Amino acid sequence: MCGIVGYVGEKKLVPILLEGLHCLEYRGYDSSGIAIHEGQSLNVIKAVGKISKLEEVLNVNGNSTNGKNGSVHCGIGHTRWATHGEPTEINAHPHFDTEENIAVVHNGIIRNYIEVKEKLIKEGTVFKSQTDTEVVVQLIAYNFKQSKSILKAICKSVNELEGSYALAILFKSEHNKIYAVRKESPLVIGIGKKENYLASDTPTLSRFVDKAARLLDNEIAELSKKEVVFYNFKGKKIKKKILRISKSKDILDKRGFKHYLAKEINEQSEVVLTLLQELLPSAEKSVQLDYLKLEPKFLKEVDRILILACGTAYHAGLVGKHVIEKLTSIPVEVQFASEYLNSASLLTKKSLIVGISQSGETADTIAAIKKAISSGATLIGITNRPDSALADMAKNHLIVSRSGVEVSVAATKTFTTQMLVLYLLAVYISETINHEPSTINLLKKELRQLPQLIDQTLAKSEFYQEQIVKYASSKDFVFIGRGINYPIALEAALKLKELSYIHASGYASGEMKHGPIAVLDRGVPVVSIIVPGETYERVIQNSLEAKSRKAPMIAVAVDGDKKVDGIFDTVLHIPPVSEILSPFLTVIPMQFLSYYIAEHLGRDVDQPRNLAKSVTVE
Ligand code: G6P
Repeated sequence: MCGIVGYVGEKKLVPILLEGLHCLEYRGYDSSGIAIHEGQSLNVIKAVGKISKLEEVLNVNGNSTNGKNGSVHCGIGHTRWATHGEPTEINAHPHFDTEENIAVVHNGIIRNYIEVKEKLIKEGTVFKSQTDTEVVVQLIAYNFKQSKSILKAICKSVNELEGSYALAILFKSEHNKIYAVRKESPLVIGIGKKENYLASDTPTLSRFVDKAARLLDNEIAELSKKEVVFYNFKGKKIKKKILRISKSKDILDKRGFKHYLAKEINEQSEVVLTLLQELLPSAEKSVQLDYLKLEPKFLKEVDRILILACGTAYHAGLVGKHVIEKLTSIPVEVQFASEYLNSASLLTKKSLIVGISQSGETADTIAAIKKAISSGATLIGITNRPDSALADMAKNHLIVSRSGVEVSVAATKTFTTQMLVLYLLAVYISETINHEPSTINLLKKELRQLPQLIDQTLAKSEFYQEQIVKYASSKDFVFIGRGINYPIALEAALKLKELSYIHASGYASGEMKHGPIAVLDRGVPVVSIIVPGETYERVIQNSLEAKSRKAPMIAVAVDGDKKVDGIFDTVLHIPPVSEILSPFLTVIPMQFLSYYIAEHLGRDVDQPRNLAKSVTVE
């Protein structure tokens, strides 16, 4: 996790670094800091907490850091999600070497930091923080003393370090240069006129420039106002492709909503429409995934599909399993990426791996995919970020979920688009192998109706709010569903925990009687997801069992369902929908439930405590 930013040019430096850090705050918000060249010195300013805390400190020290006299042109910044060492000012980045000649910001993990630290301590280095990052800067300082060459010191150091790192480095002796290094953590260079930038992601750079170059693993960039020079880890100059990016300030626009979360929940019909226009422009056409070049012969012989993902993406995978198995009859297994790392790999060359990650950089997912592809199986990547590690790994087998930037840490619209991609993939495979053509034709027509159905559901948000806030003082919630809506019960419980900090569990409704029912009493609301179809009667039956234990009963059910209205204390209605498509609608009242309860409790809904949006550590 952690976000890093850097600027060298003629503009006022501190506002640029802060703007960049605000864009990257989704990556962590335990502490933040900047390092800047000022005259002959290298200054570091840090604060514990969100970027707003750093802004407060900078305002207090404004005279020396706002670049008024035009002498400050080169600096780096960092926003941290703590891994090694608590979120204190000492552990906040940037980190200095002992003599304060070099400042470093880092995103990633140095796996051998203890060994390197011990070696440096023996050589006389004194450490101040508990971080792995301080080892990097002290090691570079040590090697710089030996070689007297910045590039040689960096190359020697990176060859001694194990782990993942994106680094931005300032040297006191080089006032107007930033050195950037990448291995297995994202880093993009923004190319401007008489100015250059770096950041952990492209959307941040798109606020400032329309050209960028992605650093790849084992590459170094030397940024000055005039140019960017690229090197490999041997210190040899290399050429990089410069990409055009669309310049846009949209990323931090809440579009009139109080929170990014509310904006992103409300964008779900729009992003579904965008994705459908791209991949299913008409119900009469086939799904536009031919570019994946998966031959009918290969797809007909696929022995199994393994979906790997974490968190919300894992829940989308569970929904996908139902749909893919139904439409293709290919067995699908869904595994937490972190668990797959410890399990036997039963894949063959005839298997398909589907890796799902909004950010495309979740360390567990990337590591699991690396293990899975070593079997020779084919990888399909689903991500919202075409410039991510997952996108690189999937190459031509990539499906971009086109949700636009999701700023709020809790995933909402990206969950919906991940599900939609999986439905479209299932239809694509089914069409290619000519399985179930009549079901497919009907489903395609229904999929085209989704934006409208989602809009009708979103329009009920005020009604959901009125119905829900009375449950905000509950200490525990239970969510139940069956079949294709069991993953929605899991996702609902995750969302409520993340946003409100209320404990919540999601269960397959049939499992309640095998243990979880013991937790029920008047203080534990049960939320049942009940839509007409195969699972309807059984979920009602399981809900009645909960009602008999005096639990307050809430249902998510379709408009006009009199049976449900008669049983439950509160019903969150959704428009009538087929069971197979229902997850797209049933998840919406669940997202609003979590949002409104969290807001009622005064939680920080966009940046909940202890979380980060991209988790780049295993
Ligand atoms: C973190 C986020 C979750 C997200 C998960 C997987 O835990 O807080 O919201 O679902 O990572 O993220 P990914 O980017 O791989 O989808």
